[in-house]
Amino acid sequence: MTKLPLRIIQISDIHLLADTSGALLGVKTQESLEAVLHLVHQEETPPDLILLTGDLSQDGTETSYQRLASMLASIPVPIHFIPGNHDNVKTLNNTFQGDNIFPQKQIILQNWQLILLNSQKPGKVEGFLEQSQFDYLQECLRAYPNHYSVVVFHHQPMPVGSQWLDNVGLKNADEFWKFISNYPQVKHLIFGHVHQEFEQEKQGILCFSPPSTCIQFKRKQDHFGLENLAPGLRWVNLYEDGHLETGVRRAAKYVGVFDKDAKGY
Ligand SMILES: [Fe+2]
Repeated sequence: MTKLPLRIIQISDIHLLADTSGALLGVKTQESLEAVLHLVHQEETPPDLILLTGDLSQDGTETSYQRLASMLASIPVPIHFIPGNHDNVKTLNNTFQGDNIFPQKQIILQNWQLILLNSQKPGKVEGFLEQSQFDYLQECLRAYPNHYSVVVFHHQPMPVGSQWLDNVGLKNADEFWKFISNYPQVKHLIFGHVHQEFEQEKQGILCFSPPSTCIQFKRKQDHFGLENLAPGLRWVNLYEDGHLETGVRRAAKYVGVFDKDAKGY
């Protein structure tokens, strides 16, 4: 039996490209991911689980997903994933495969349940939870009513304080919050998409996101901008009594060069 706390690492918004030296607004996304994965390799004991919370690929190509799988192959930890707005869901599901990569979206770990949802609205940057996702969430929560639960999807279900980014968050967030109010076992919510460290409580649920492994969006801005912060990951420790500890680790030695004049991505 795994010794509590359960240790999870969240890695998000990798934006890998088919070209190994491909860059997003100046940042070589493979190189910056390598710097973040180095942090994972430095862990004294491997975590129990890695969550990839969307935008695994920038171009949705088979090559990008296959290369990502091979970059992760040396990490002896189960990896679960959800799509982001940039992903090609079909290609992701068909080509992102490996001995340590699992397609399951319901994860039971001792007295915890993690439920992974797809918030992608095909062809759009903004997100939306379809009825099928609410049905799945309900099914999972009803199946394990006494497990502390963590819901995971890509788009932010609350404003993070940047107007341009909050215009492309989860469009039916109100519906989600109303739905979730019926399930007090949901303790935490994990998302990606916002390319920044963020934590906020809502309806008694702690919601948070990590830095991206590539470009970092400037916080609290009305218009798009990038911030000169190192890429990173989020660690999450889940305790037996339902509480959680979390924090961010950055690849401090990685010096990324990004396009300071970028007006969008
Ligand atoms: Fe992203």
